[in-house]
Amino acid sequence: MTTGLWIILDHVVALLSIATWFAAGVTLALRRTRPALAALVAAVLVTLVRVVTVAMLAGRGWWFVQEKVLLGLPMLGAAAAGAVLLAGPRLLAARRGRGDGWSAGGVVSVLTAAYAALAGLVATFLAGYPLTLGTALVTISVVGAGALLTARVVAPPAEIIADSGVARAPEGRRAISRRRFIGWTGGAVVVTAAGAGSGLSSRPAASVTTGGGPGRSSRAAVSVADLRGSGSPAPGGTVRRHALTAKKATVRLPSGREIAAWTYNGEVPGPAITATQGDLIEVRLSNADIEDGVTLHWHGYDVPCGEDGSPGVTQTVVGPGADFVYRFPADQVGTYWYHTHHASHVGVHKGLYGTLVVRPRDGERAGSAAEQLDLTLPVHTFDGTVVIAGGDGRTEQLAPPGTPVRLRLINTDSDPHRIVLAGTPFRIAAVDGRDLNQPGEVSDVGLRLPAGGRYDLVFLMPDTSVALVVDGDRDGGLRLRPHGDAPGAARIEDTSGLPELDLLRYGAAAAVPFDPRRADRHFTMVLDRGVAMVDGRPAYAHTVNGRGHPAIPDQLVAEGDIVRFTVVNRSLGTHPWHLHGHRVLILSRDGTPSTGSPLWVDTFDVRPGETWEVAFRATNPGIWMNHCHNLPHAHQGMMLRLQYDGVTTPFGGSHGASAGHVH
Ligand code: C2O
Ligand code: CU
Repeated sequence: MTTGLWIILDHVVALLSIATWFAAGVTLALRRTRPALAALVAAVLVTLVRVVTVAMLAGRGWWFVQEKVLLGLPMLGAAAAGAVLLAGPRLLAARRGRGDGWSAGGVVSVLTAAYAALAGLVATFLAGYPLTLGTALVTISVVGAGALLTARVVAPPAEIIADSGVARAPEGRRAISRRRFIGWTGGAVVVTAAGAGSGLSSRPAASVTTGGGPGRSSRAAVSVADLRGSGSPAPGGTVRRHALTAKKATVRLPSGREIAAWTYNGEVPGPAITATQGDLIEVRLSNADIEDGVTLHWHGYDVPCGEDGSPGVTQTVVGPGADFVYRFPADQVGTYWYHTHHASHVGVHKGLYGTLVVRPRDGERAGSAAEQLDLTLPVHTFDGTVVIAGGDGRTEQLAPPGTPVRLRLINTDSDPHRIVLAGTPFRIAAVDGRDLNQPGEVSDVGLRLPAGGRYDLVFLMPDTSVALVVDGDRDGGLRLRPHGDAPGAARIEDTSGLPELDLLRYGAAAAVPFDPRRADRHFTMVLDRGVAMVDGRPAYAHTVNGRGHPAIPDQLVAEGDIVRFTVVNRSLGTHPWHLHGHRVLILSRDGTPSTGSPLWVDTFDVRPGETWEVAFRATNPGIWMNHCHNLPHAHQGMMLRLQYDGVTTPFGGSHGASAGHVH
């Protein structure tokens, strides 16, 4: 069973334990002896099952269970033991006909177990990993407060007893003062603990984490504003100049529907930028009327940091009437894309993106002729409709048999797409722009393309039709026809049952340029949901180690370091993790090493319950965004910065630090 399923099962068992403990408490309070006894037995059994589900999850990683093992279960266990001891004997006696099983202590203790079960689950959902002393104190106080209030309701309050005859007897008076004492001290303890807990929880985080490496050195500072691209192309190259103007426009989709889009130059996707290795790319961005402002981020392209387009970190956002010139060498071959990085959860969705493809200088790839049909196919969803290959509406292409074809798929959405290429065997020649080593021929497989990711599929056109099917939609997608007269709408079979290709076992292993086991720094990012501050406001955020941007400490690295990331997904959603400015090498998923071609990516899909290990060498000085490429998630907190020792930024706001964290 996958960790994701264990997480869900554990939540279900936790809910059941809450339900059974409450059922036991309420039936007992109503003096319904038999149901109360049955519910109590069920509650105890479910609680024991919970121990099993938590133990199973613990086997998958401490991150998945820390708050359950240290807080939720001990609290529930203690309350449950008290409940069994206080309520159990009387209920058993009642079953044998002696009394109705009710006692104030029994009711209060059983309900307290119910509160403990509920509080444990709430702590998991709102706080999660890592468990803090503050969270523990607040949680325990809430349960304590619940117990005290319940006692007041269930047992006659001291004041009422005081009016009765009991109060006049000496033992009655002693009982009353004892209860007053317990009530007042209990209340005081609860309030103090809750106050201390919430005080602890609102403490700011440290500004950086060092991942086990040295802290900041006193080396001379370099500003990101000075880390700019070089001014001339390599010998033989040219300057590829583009002017992109961000503006609102009405765009017609292939379906004929018109949408109000945000565009570069009135087109969606924006102008395709292509270059040959060794060229220099120079793009002037201006903004006509996007009030929020825009930037250009070169997704997956390891540009000098000052060209990265991160507002507040590498530049100020380009507002209406302003402009910014990006310049960087086209030294990496492959399929990439560009998009705005300001309020990108809105801007990219509305159309502020385009493609970037850099081809090899000699026009030849090792051993094979350049593809004659080379299509760049960004996949984007507008108003629920998946649109491929931009707005030209061409969903059919002619490709004579034997034509070498390359399809460059780019997922510009925030969710993964399932891609099937039907009608021909093919190879995945490149992932995220980087060629794979000896990619084998595959057919009848599904490919999962993460948000932000790219796959280059290559094949020789057969003499029958080929179909690219996205998300199982057999009417949409793209058709390649071998002859002009062949009907394009050949029936496509149902592809939904095809197995998913595992890229960690695809292609052949090869040497990698560094030894990832000898990492200089190791950072763990536990992804979850929880209550956290995002941009200075409390939110039900998408969190990294329990915090939201910009309160997540920067990761500090030094140039030349080998850096390792462990990325753990505790949540029930997928997080396509993306680091700017670097490609990372996939080491393992859920402890199983990658055994296929070395897989260098800029975005990897961390599904619920998964743990990924990746590594890279820090060779591109700067301050780089490191975030979830589900852009609404990033906007809701799931974003941090990787900062090179000695690099500073003069900018601020937006992705920058809120409280002078970047020095
Ligand atoms: Cu394509 Cu920071 O993103
Ligand atoms: Cu995410």
